[in-house]
Amino acid sequence: MNAPATAEQLAMSKAADAQQKPARWQRSTVLDVRHWTPEVRSLRITRPHGFRFTPGHYVRLGLEDATGEAVWRPFSMVSGRDEAELEFLTLVVPEGPFSERLRTVVTGSTMLVENFGLGFLTLDQLAAGTNLWLLASGSGIGPFISILRTPALCDGFARIILVHSVRHAAELAYADEIRQIAASPIIAGRLHYIPVVTREALPGALNARIPALLEQSLLQAHAGVDLELAHSRVMVCGNPDLTRDMRAYLAARGFQSSRRGVAGQMAFEKYW
Ligand SMILES: Cc1cc2nc3c(=O)[nH]c(=O)nc-3n(C[C@H](O)[C@H](O)[C@H](O)COP(=O)(O)OP(=O)(O)OC[C@H]3O[C@@H](n4cnc5c(N)ncnc54)[C@H](O)[C@@H]3O)c2cc1C
Ligand SMILES: NC(=O)c1ccc[n+]([C@@H]2O[C@H](COP(=O)([O-])OP(=O)(O)OC[C@H]3O[C@@H](n4cnc5c(N)ncnc54)[C@H](OP(=O)(O)O)[C@@H]3O)[C@@H](O)[C@H]2O)c1
Repeated sequence: MNAPATAEQLAMSKAADAQQKPARWQRSTVLDVRHWTPEVRSLRITRPHGFRFTPGHYVRLGLEDATGEAVWRPFSMVSGRDEAELEFLTLVVPEGPFSERLRTVVTGSTMLVENFGLGFLTLDQLAAGTNLWLLASGSGIGPFISILRTPALCDGFARIILVHSVRHAAELAYADEIRQIAASPIIAGRLHYIPVVTREALPGALNARIPALLEQSLLQAHAGVDLELAHSRVMVCGNPDLTRDMRAYLAARGFQSSRRGVAGQMAFEKYW
């Protein structure tokens, strides 16, 4: 029988293991920071070697301090599946540990990126359907941009209704790009964009929270289609109170999340 390993031997074996295991993350360089508002920014970073994801996924990003200690948080990819770089939409929240570091990020900064994307806000979680409803609040628009930037994924849907609810008009990130995608021949009139601005009036935008707009059938009227079980598939992303209320709204109408490999009619990602 072998003699029990000493603490020193255990430490050496752990260090050897760590050297052999591939790192869980890689370093990326920030290529561009775009400010939509002082707090809402898009970051483009180098795509780590071999990084794979499905549009709708998130990945954990790390920001180190001067001692090399990292704070990690999940962020949804905005970039299309095959883009050469990765893009993220970020909100700086007051007194957030990651946000404090995010404030200092500029072109040339280093970010840590875990090796693969994760999550269930992907189209393969949904059964085939006719109308795809994408409902986002705040920075929750990000994964839907990734889906729209990979248009082949949307081929099966006759209509895509993208609703983005923000407090102020300036936070309607990607609005111009969404309109360009809507006008592109690939999407060919199938994308219907409905901006919602809740704390100021903006011509062309609706002005109440998403669940209230649905209860009043205002979103359905704007989209020109009903939101019902037979033909609709729904994804919701952002504020956890919105995802909770939408889950209840949809469940009451017979919608189900995917379960044990069986595709459903609704999928959610809550950001906090
Ligand atoms: C699966 C997943 C994906 C995410 N993807 C994104 C993303 O693409 N973009 C993004 O900006 N954030 C995203 N988040 C949130 C993000 O991971 C951090 O929570 C956020 O950056 C704040 O980190 P923090 O350490 O500064 O504050 P935290 O301590 O993490 O949060 C403090 C508080 O800030 C508020 N808050 C946190 N995130 C948000 C937000 N996005 N919008 C509004 N209020 C918020 C909440 O009230 C929260 O309690 C995601 C979270 C999850 C779980
Ligand atoms: N957005 C910014 O630029 C900014 C700047 C500084 C700090 N912050 C901080 O960031 C946090 C919130 O950021 P945010 O504005 O991106 O996210 P948010 O509070 O989730 O608001 C985004 C959108 O979601 C709506 N919403 C909120 N709760 C909802 C619910 N239960 N059901 C349906 N819709 C709902 C909001 O409507 P209502 O307007 O009706 O709430 C708004 O239209 C706060 O801590 C805030 O202080 C944000």
